[in-house]
Amino acid sequence: MSDRIHTLSGYFHEYQKSLAEPDKFWARIADSFHWRKRWDKVLDWNFEGPDVKWFVNGKLNITENVLERHLFTLGDRPAIIWEPNDPNEEGRVLTYQELYHKVCKFSNALKAKGIGKGDKVIIYMPMVPEAAVAMLACARIGAVHSVVFAGFSSNALADRIEDCQAKAVLTSDGNFRGKKKIEVKAVVDEALEKTNDVETVVVYQRTKQDVVMKEGRDYWWHDFIAGQAETNTATEMDSEDMLFILYTSGSTGKPKGIVHTTGGYMVYSKYTFENVFQYSPGDIYWCTADIGWITGHSYIVYGPLLAGATSIMFEGVPTYPDAGRFWAIVDKYKVNQFYTAPTAIRALEAHGTEPIEPYKLDSLKVLGTVGEPINEEAWHWYHTHVGKNRCPIVDTWWQTETGGIMVSPLAGVTPNKPAYATLPLPGVQLAIVDPEGNELTGNSVEGNLCIKFPWPGMLRTTYGDHERCKQTYFATYKGMYFTGDGVKRDHDGYYRILGRVDDVINVSGHRMGTAEVENAINEHPKVIESAVVGYPHEVKGQGIYAYVICDMTNRTVENLTNEIKETVRKIIGPIAKPDKVQIVSGLPKTRSGKIMRRILRKVAEGAMDDMGDTSTLLDPEVVEEIKKNRIN
Ligand code: PRX
Repeated sequence: MSDRIHTLSGYFHEYQKSLAEPDKFWARIADSFHWRKRWDKVLDWNFEGPDVKWFVNGKLNITENVLERHLFTLGDRPAIIWEPNDPNEEGRVLTYQELYHKVCKFSNALKAKGIGKGDKVIIYMPMVPEAAVAMLACARIGAVHSVVFAGFSSNALADRIEDCQAKAVLTSDGNFRGKKKIEVKAVVDEALEKTNDVETVVVYQRTKQDVVMKEGRDYWWHDFIAGQAETNTATEMDSEDMLFILYTSGSTGKPKGIVHTTGGYMVYSKYTFENVFQYSPGDIYWCTADIGWITGHSYIVYGPLLAGATSIMFEGVPTYPDAGRFWAIVDKYKVNQFYTAPTAIRALEAHGTEPIEPYKLDSLKVLGTVGEPINEEAWHWYHTHVGKNRCPIVDTWWQTETGGIMVSPLAGVTPNKPAYATLPLPGVQLAIVDPEGNELTGNSVEGNLCIKFPWPGMLRTTYGDHERCKQTYFATYKGMYFTGDGVKRDHDGYYRILGRVDDVINVSGHRMGTAEVENAINEHPKVIESAVVGYPHEVKGQGIYAYVICDMTNRTVENLTNEIKETVRKIIGPIAKPDKVQIVSGLPKTRSGKIMRRILRKVAEGAMDDMGDTSTLLDPEVVEEIKKNRIN
């Protein structure tokens, strides 16, 4: 049964219902799923704790809703279509029936190794169907998956393994990405030298490159599953049992493990998928994200598969073998809904429209974007050249913490407004607040974006540190979840996301804490102090600009700059490598010793005549020097 909204008046009607009677609203949607035992109460909550429970005492397993629920009616429908990095290699199709057997088989093997309910399993894998199988197999037996993007360094991986005390790591020998063959297992090996918790490593053979296998700990995927049964009964879970942990960056300290639970996440990911993308049975849907991010969790795996959709998984990159690859795939599989990031659109825009021309894109019905604000120019390019002025664009605003889409047009239902995420989804109660936390009512207002009422897909805690969850999200503005984003509500009541208002930067749709990058830079032995800010970047949205005070003995500026970039790459991963490193003799600080990042941002942007109030600066000369040596 679908809960799809079809008209704008239908949307307003549903939205009002969700405000007036949230319990009744969400119960109706949740009733379309299979529960082993129905909930006693829809919602129990306070934002002070925070303590939020959805579908209280409901019992279920999310994979019964992905697999068993579809087997009789959709068993032969492709669940996952996999397109390899190399277009000359044959793709793969897994029907719902085949996916069911693969998930059961792998979950039986995990169980045989003593992995069960509540155990943490790290998935560090390329974009192959087995990555989705791994996630679902964990969910099937109640193990908690934590997918780590396979581009993160061994240090970043080790931190995550340690933080959640993972018992197992699921990985591959290597990874194909464009022209490159990337080591994966070797990174795991390095990470495991730093931690002790992991007992089992399962290695999916993808690239056939040489890897070291440690006796008694490491198993090839095919050996691991050999002889296991292809069916089983899923483990019964409570609505509020943990489904997964996903690490994300914040403005302070190390990445935090965002915790999502079973019942609410299930209901929310499917509901938002069906409505935002206006999914119709039989549609071919493609989201280009990586499963290492929340977008891959909610809109490659859980949302589409809960809806019985066909979800495409692409191993490669948009520009390999050429800048027409996305469109070749759309044409090949007759994709109906296509969901990507503004950074990819901008990167392809730079190649012009020629790479699009050979392909037929008339199967497309809906285009989506996610991850960062989309500029109007990119929006129009996408709309005109990909959507041929025919396809609505859903600019979907949400976060790792929200679990699913929060503000977005419903495709073809909500009128589009370029660069606007438009209106909140049913059940989402937004508030715009001023710095003191006063809600700004009415239209034509701008401020910080908060959410006043729980929604089923929301985070429940940050793993192992509930206080951090409270302080980060629920303490800034009393009684509200604070998103960290700035927003404008225009004269029509439409929302436009303006970007982060905290020390988080968004590089190609990847979230990065400035403190995290600074900590990595500071690991270099010659570095004394550093400050990192974001600056506007044509393709990436934001670039990383680092100001670094160094001990220059035995070094040139050039070799230090390169070494610093390399240090960050090693400690976090290539996505965090600063674009620009400026060696400085001091940083602009207030008398109380606080770095004035506002000034550093202005210099990085090149807005040198617009420094604002600098009267509290300890040493104004530092600013002159920084301005003079600014890197273009
Ligand atoms: O700043 C917002 C931006 O990405 C942040 C969330 O990042 P992450 O948790 O990694 O999740 C990304 C994918 C859901 C937000 O706080 N962001 C995400 N989508 C949009 C966006 N900014 C503007 N418009 C969007 N559509």
